[in-house]
Amino acid sequence: ALPRKEQFIVGRLYKGFWLPEPYAPGILAVRRRFTPRPDDVVLTSYPKCGTTWLKALAFAAMARDAYPPVAADHPLRRLNPHACIPFMEDIFTERQEAKLEGLPSPRLINTHTPYSLLPETVTTGGGCKVVYICRDPKDMVVSLYHFLRRLQPDLSFADTFHSVLEGTVPYGPMWDHILGYWHASVARPDRVLFLKYEDLLQNTGEHVRKLAEFMGRPFSAAEEAAGTVASVVELCSFDNMKNLEANKTGATERKYISIAHDAFFRKGVTGDWVNHMSPEMASRLDEIFRDKLRGTVLT
Ligand code: A3P
Repeated sequence: ALPRKEQFIVGRLYKGFWLPEPYAPGILAVRRRFTPRPDDVVLTSYPKCGTTWLKALAFAAMARDAYPPVAADHPLRRLNPHACIPFMEDIFTERQEAKLEGLPSPRLINTHTPYSLLPETVTTGGGCKVVYICRDPKDMVVSLYHFLRRLQPDLSFADTFHSVLEGTVPYGPMWDHILGYWHASVARPDRVLFLKYEDLLQNTGEHVRKLAEFMGRPFSAAEEAAGTVASVVELCSFDNMKNLEANKTGATERKYISIAHDAFFRKGVTGDWVNHMSPEMASRLDEIFRDKLRGTVLT
């Protein structure tokens, strides 16, 4: 058996995707057993593309009646965002579906599962709503490298880079992950919202409005006048979140892995790849993605 942390770096190839070994049974169980409610919102992403931020923004927007974003005791000021929204892989791997059943509607749930491996109950018919966040792959590689190094300190950047190119990283290949959600968002725009980390950074407020509207919780004129959108943006901003005690200390304890909370907050910028990649590496990655994403408007 592999040491448990390294199991995350290798995976099991299933229907074209490298699933993290310990989660593979859970992902298959989701397919068989997850029954969405029509007002569920499933937050999805390729790892290291802004999941934590999306979780915080969606939670803050969805729960704003119960927890005004300016409240001193807001859950996001006390808890890491991952503690506010369950991770589907964990729930089904640990057979804790009752926890999901017990959540009041509308539920927010999170997964990294590729679109084609989601249950048909989610991807067809009324299903539920799905939000995807993607990011410049070059910045994802850098973020992934720093994240995985905490689990495997001898990992090199070059190895991480080559694994991404080969597609053999958890939930890879990244291009097919993106394409699945992209095509779904084109085919079912009322059910699948496709967001980009870079757009969110550029105009967070506009995207919080879009997200809230998509989730069925648009901001009212009174909320607009009261500056509620700006309060959500501020609460979930990188600087605010990174400096909260709940995110500086402690860890998300999963059955197979312990992830220090501060590992989810590194730099929070775009373009950090220039500090890690040679121009040749960047062109190579860009070229592969250009080729794979051909026929879409994604750049
Ligand atoms: P960097 O490593 O480039 O800094 P995920 O949540 O999917 O694991 O993605 C982690 C990336 O999102 C990290 O990128 C992290 O710093 C960034 N991030 C986390 N919270 C953020 C926030 N509130 N605003 C912007 N970026 C955030």
